[in-house]
Amino acid sequence: MIDSNRLANHYQRALRADEILAQIDAHYPAGPTLHQLAPLDQLHIGGVAATTRLLERLSPCAPLKSPYVNVLDIGAGLGGLMRQGAALGLQMTGLDITHGFSALNKALSARVNQPTAPPLTWVTGDACALPFADNSFDAVLFQHSLLNMPDAAKVLAESHRVLRPGGQLVMHEVVSGPNVAQLRYPVPWAASCEHSHLLGLAELTRLLETAGFRLDHVEDWTELALEWRKRQRQKEQTPRQAVLSPQWIFGERFLTMGKNLVDNLAQDAIKVVEIQASC
Ligand SMILES: C[S@@+](CC[C@H](N)C(=O)[O-])C[C@H]1O[C@@H](n2cnc3c(N)ncnc32)[C@H](O)[C@@H]1O
Repeated sequence: MIDSNRLANHYQRALRADEILAQIDAHYPAGPTLHQLAPLDQLHIGGVAATTRLLERLSPCAPLKSPYVNVLDIGAGLGGLMRQGAALGLQMTGLDITHGFSALNKALSARVNQPTAPPLTWVTGDACALPFADNSFDAVLFQHSLLNMPDAAKVLAESHRVLRPGGQLVMHEVVSGPNVAQLRYPVPWAASCEHSHLLGLAELTRLLETAGFRLDHVEDWTELALEWRKRQRQKEQTPRQAVLSPQWIFGERFLTMGKNLVDNLAQDAIKVVEIQASC
């Protein structure tokens, strides 16, 4: 188990939930599109494009557009992945330990026009003790969330338990690079080493196999991630006032976080990987 209050404090201390909703209502009275929400609700390196690629990994085993594909997003944050999955017809459940994020995720979803998408489900809870029955999901997704979890072995065992036989696990995660000792804080997932729990890729794949998963695909996305983050950084430095930005969540700290992400990627302190595995 982790100290959820301290982690929630990291994510919620500068969160301007009411102002975010007022801003969205003022600028997007007919409801925001998924791309308009992306600066806010895609809290990972790579934005909408990375989420699209992650969801494409589901297609070989999970028939997209079927209302019967049940997907659990662990560490759903503000729900960018959930809403993109729902747009493909997936039945998305989002679990997050930060209650303020789950509540805002729900409020954002209520503003997005997805009339034909299956309904979304939000649960506040800890990935270490998933509040779901055995074999209840076809797929489990992690997008930049395992990086906050100190007991990855327990979380992966829980993920395996809730997946049906033959179910899929797909991750888009940050892992430690060869120069992890030089990692600069703050980063979006942690103000200091207290909440950063990066594994090396070899350790992560070993833990997946120990939990009972078969590895189907492992890909290093670091180069793409660095190019994307550099482009974002340029946008963040231009004086134009964006309708939404990660600063509405992290406050002024995000400027340093964004710079540190570029440096950490460029200096091999962190790597970004995609992993697909099955039960
Ligand atoms: C960096 S954010 C990523 C959010 C989202 N996946 C995305 O990519 O936009 C990490 C998320 O993981 C959640 N999280 C961290 N530890 C967790 C745990 N033990 N159980 C559930 N959620 C957790 C945090 O509250 C936060 O919302």
